[in-house]
This record gives sequence, C-alpha cells and structure tokens, in this order.
Amino acid sequence: MPDPAVAFDAVSKSFGSKEVLKNVTFSIAAGTAFVLLGRSGSGKSVMLKIICGLLKVDSGSVAVHGNEITKLDSQQLAETRRHMGFLFQSAALFDSLSVGENVAFPLRRNTRKTDAEIREQAKDLLQKVGLDGEYDHAPSQLSGGMRKRAGLARALAMEPSILLIDEPSAGLDPITSTEIDQLLVDIKTKHHATLVVVTHNIPSARRIADQMAFLEDGHLVAQGTLKELEQNENQLVRDFLKSQQAG
Ligand SMILES: Nc1ncnc2c1ncn2[C@@H]1O[C@H](COP(=O)(O)OP(=O)(O)OP(=O)(O)O)[C@@H](O)[C@H]1O
Ligand SMILES: [Mg+2]
Repeated sequence: MPDPAVAFDAVSKSFGSKEVLKNVTFSIAAGTAFVLLGRSGSGKSVMLKIICGLLKVDSGSVAVHGNEITKLDSQQLAETRRHMGFLFQSAALFDSLSVGENVAFPLRRNTRKTDAEIREQAKDLLQKVGLDGEYDHAPSQLSGGMRKRAGLARALAMEPSILLIDEPSAGLDPITSTEIDQLLVDIKTKHHATLVVVTHNIPSARRIADQMAFLEDGHLVAQGTLKELEQNENQLVRDFLKSQQAG
C-alpha cells in the first residue's frame, strides 16, 4: 500500500482552554477527494491549516505522503508545502498585484521559468477557471466568485499533489459552483491529485467526494462514502446530508 496523502493519528489541538480537535484519526488515500463537513466553528479550517503546517498540533502526529510534518524544520516544511495548493476561505489575493500576477506569483517565486513562460502559464490557468482576459485587472475589480476562481488558479499553478480548498462554492452561483467542482474533479483525475475540500454545500460535496467525514464538537463522528454516511447512525450526519444547501 502506498502512503496515504494525509494521515492524522490521535491529533488534538486547543486554543487556550478551547479544545478544537480531540483525538482525531483519519487518513486520505492519494489521488482521492476527501470532503470535510461540519457545522460552523467545528474546526474544519483548523484541520486544513494543520495539514499545510500553518498550525501546529498539541499532540498526535500528522503525516503527509508518509512524512511526519510536525518533525520537519522550516526548510523541509517549505519544500513539502511546495507540493500543496491552498485556497483559503477568504481567497486572499494580493491587492497590489494584478489578477494575472497573483496567479504567476508562485511560479515567479519557485521556478526558474522565463517571464514569457510564466505569463503564458498564468494565462492558461486563468483560462482554465474561466477568467481569460482578466490578467491585467486589479483583484478589486473582480466579483467575489471571480476572486475565488483566481485564487484557485493560483493554487493550481505549481501543479500540487495535494489541493486544500476551504469552501470552493461560497459566494458562487450554482452554475459556476458546478463548473468549479468539475474542474476539481478533472484535476484529481488528470493529475492524480489529492483533494481535501471543506464545504457547506451538500450538492457540491456529492459531486466531488470519494470519501466524506463529519466533524462535530472536535470529534470526527463519521467517515465513509456518501452512501455510508447517508446511513450513518448519527442523525445529525444524516440530516446534514439531506439539506440541499446548508450554511
Ligand atoms: N488562530 C486561532 N486562534 C484562536 N482560536 C482559533 C484560531 N483559529 C480557529 N480558532 C477557533 O477554533 C474553532 C474552529 O475554527 P475553524 O475556523 O476551524 O471553524 P470552521 O469549522 O472552519 O468554521 P466555518 O464553517 O465557520 O468556517 C473556532 O472556535 C475558532 O474560534
Ligand atoms: Mg472555516
């Protein structure tokens, strides 16, 4: 068996006296899409930030492609992170850079490609997310959904083996949201990337997920395929999945 893309073993994390994750254990097989569900404040974003090493755990271990990330020094962690793409909840773009230069940013920083190559690649990425023609615009000129898509293009720039996405459909209309989901599934299939997606959007979760997990009060209370979760003994999980557009 190859190493899982991500493996949590008995992970706990608190902020002050607030325990956000309590003894959480799960793994995500490489090349699959894992969707994390749970109510607001349940710790989903914290989990993504732990996977990319932005937050440290209090106890337990976190392995990424078999490497225990809590033991890496900052240089090794940076190297591991180069193989990850993130799209955070706020889709933070750099306001001082054009949309295209936001997408080009990781390429300028991490590769030795020429300016022309980088511009070309950034344009291709923008086209992929339906933002062709936006290269020279300022992020402030984009709608919320367009910013999200620009953030996704930037996350894809380094062809990540693990893509961490916090709420891909927040602020998007259902059609754009479906397109983004399709793009994510394509990336998974064509590049054998692992997706870790947090969403409140149940139709979107249904489209993307190979495996789903449900976080409640710091515990991972359910994990499995959509079918398995629909029959879960926990009513909250079943109700959550029945809602068409929760959150
Ligand atoms: N850096 C931090 N410092 C202190 N508390 C934090 C920090 N980050 C998160 N928390 C707390 O951890 C808990 C979980 O937060 P998290 O952002 O993971 O929730 P979430 O499941 O992503 O919620 P939402 O669906 O609203 O985005 C919250 O109580 C939050 O206040
Ligand atoms: Mg969140």
